[in-house]
Order: sequence, then C-alpha cells, then structure tokens
Amino acid sequence: MSTSTTEFPMFAVLGCGIMGAGIAEVLARSGRRVVVLEADQARLDAGLALVAASLGEGVARGKGTEDDCRAILARITGTTTLADLADADAVLESVAEDAEIKKHLLAQVAEVVGADVPLLTGTSALSVTDLAAGLPAPGRVAGLHFFNPAPVMRTVEVVRALQTDDALVERLVALVGTLEGKTAVRVHDRPGFLVNALLLPYLNDVVQEYDDGLASAEDLDVALELGLGYRTGPLKMVDMIGLDVHLNATEAAYAATLDKRYAAPPLLRRMVAAGRLGAKNGRGFRTSRPTFEGHTDGND
Ligand SMILES: NC(=O)c1ccc[n+]([C@@H]2O[C@H](COP(=O)([O-])OP(=O)(O)OC[C@H]3O[C@@H](n4cnc5c(N)ncnc54)[C@H](O)[C@@H]3O)[C@@H](O)[C@H]2O)c1
Repeated sequence: MSTSTTEFPMFAVLGCGIMGAGIAEVLARSGRRVVVLEADQARLDAGLALVAASLGEGVARGKGTEDDCRAILARITGTTTLADLADADAVLESVAEDAEIKKHLLAQVAEVVGADVPLLTGTSALSVTDLAAGLPAPGRVAGLHFFNPAPVMRTVEVVRALQTDDALVERLVALVGTLEGKTAVRVHDRPGFLVNALLLPYLNDVVQEYDDGLASAEDLDVALELGLGYRTGPLKMVDMIGLDVHLNATEAAYAATLDKRYAAPPLLRRMVAAGRLGAKNGRGFRTSRPTFEGHTDGND
C-alpha cells in the first residue's frame, strides 16, 4: 500500500454512490484521510457500506489483510454537514451527472474550504469549463475522471478546463501517481475527454454493424476479443455500461459536437425504449435469449 500523502493529505469527496465510494477507497488506500459528504444519513450509510464491501472483496482476492482494511476504513469519515469539509486540502465532487446540482454544490463548498483549495469534478460528460465558470477562482477547477470500478481501473484522466492553472494539472498528475496501480493521462475538456471520445463511436459502430446483420452478437464480441485482443467484446461492454447510460452519453456528445460518429444507432434507441438496459436488468445484447437469426433487438 502506498502511503504517500504529501500532496492533498485530506480529501473531501462529495457523493458516496458507485464512483464516490470507489474513489474514497482509492484515496484512503494511498494513506490520505477522506471525508465523504452525502445528501442524508441513509445514503451516507449505504455509501460507506459500499466501501466496506469493496474492501472485503479485495481481501478475499488477496489484496491486503483484514488489518489493512480496518486501517483504510478508519481514514474515511462521513458527514452530511458542509462545515465538516472545512479542513480539506482538495475537493472532488462525484454527485449526480447534472450540471445544476454540481454547480450549486461546488459553490456551497467553495464557501467553506480555503480560497485556493482545488475543486475537482468526476463528471464523465459535462463540460469542466462550464462548471468552472460559475465558481470563485476558476483556475483551481479541473476534472479528475476515474473509471468504474475506481479501485480496479488503472487510468485516471486529468482534465484541463480552459481556466485550469497549469500547476494544478501537474499536481493532479503527481497525485494520481501516488494512487496504487493508477496512471494519469492529461486530457482536454472536450466531449468524452479522451477515452470516451474514442469509445463511443466504436461502440456505436458495432451496434450498427450488428443491426445491419454483419454477424451475431456473440461472434462480434469473439472477433474483437480474440482477433484484436480486447479484454471485453463491445456488445458485452455496452451491456455492462447499461444501454441507457451509453445512449445518454452518446446523445450528450452528439449534442455538443454534431459529429455524426456520436449519433445514437437506431437499434440502441429501440432497445432502451423496450426496457432492454443490459446487465442491470438481465436484458441486453448478450444477456437475453437470442431470437431468430441471433438478434435480440427488442421486437418481441
Ligand atoms: N457510474 C459510472 O460508470 C461512472 C464512471 C465515471 C464517472 N462517473 C461520474 O461520476 C459521478 C457520479 O456517478 P455515480 O455513478 O457514482 O452516481 P450515483 O448515483 O451512484 O451516486 C451519486 C451520489 O451523489 C449523492 N448526492 C447527490 N446530491 C448530493 C448532494 N447535494 N450532496 C451530497 N451528495 C449528493 C447521491 O445521494 C448519490 O449517492 C457522475 O458525474 C458520473 O458521470 C460515473
């Protein structure tokens, strides 16, 4: 376990859902103290339970001991009170993907933390530049985009908004370097940043090829997994991401760019309309029984 805490020894994480819980775990694993803010006590309890469960799974996989687990958990405190964030050296918001909610919360937090404390966002698709624009001292605003699940995925995008200070970008790259197994990439604030800017058109292409009858869903995945060495085939990946989540992401990128590579494939829309959301409800490209010709396109 890394114990490098020289940069940002005390982190505030806003929101302890899927991402916030994972990020809190990753930061605490690095030896940092973390205070997580949730909207109410029930959600805070649920979020901290997510962290404990993930740590337990880590121990079961041979990642650290029960004692390590207890020490990591002891570095994480939870609160529902903004004033408890006052001592934070950096703030990372991981609340719902809604610009107004994020702006409102970050503006409130800016009033309780130090005037030069970095205000970071974990958004996947919103403009970091737009979020920074409404905040005091926007040079201290940047994106820190972890991938899901945060304790497992190995890269973090450091997103430079138009206003972000150069020095902050470098401090964040250094921070990521202290997180176990993570490597930072510096990216510009553009729709999809780097990874999703490339991933969304690829997934859209495969969905369209499937709809056009190029091959069965299984064969498309096998071809990309065994032919190109991708760990997860694209249609399995859309199922894991959630068809609705992928649709929202690609629609947002399309709205921001009018680049037709981001236009949602018609089959994706039909499947979401039919309630086929992927792994989360057991109905997607690879998770439901194939109908005739191998298609599972929601027409039944
Ligand atoms: N889920 C993913 O795969 C993924 C991957 C990368 C980035 N992201 C981004 O991470 C962010 C969070 O996504 P998530 O999937 O963890 O969402 P989530 O719904 O699981 O968690 C959001 C949490 O924020 C809390 N919250 C909402 N308003 C709050 C407030 N005012 N104060 C404190 N807490 C509040 C909610 O109670 C909830 O627990 C989003 O911006 C999303 O785009 C998600």
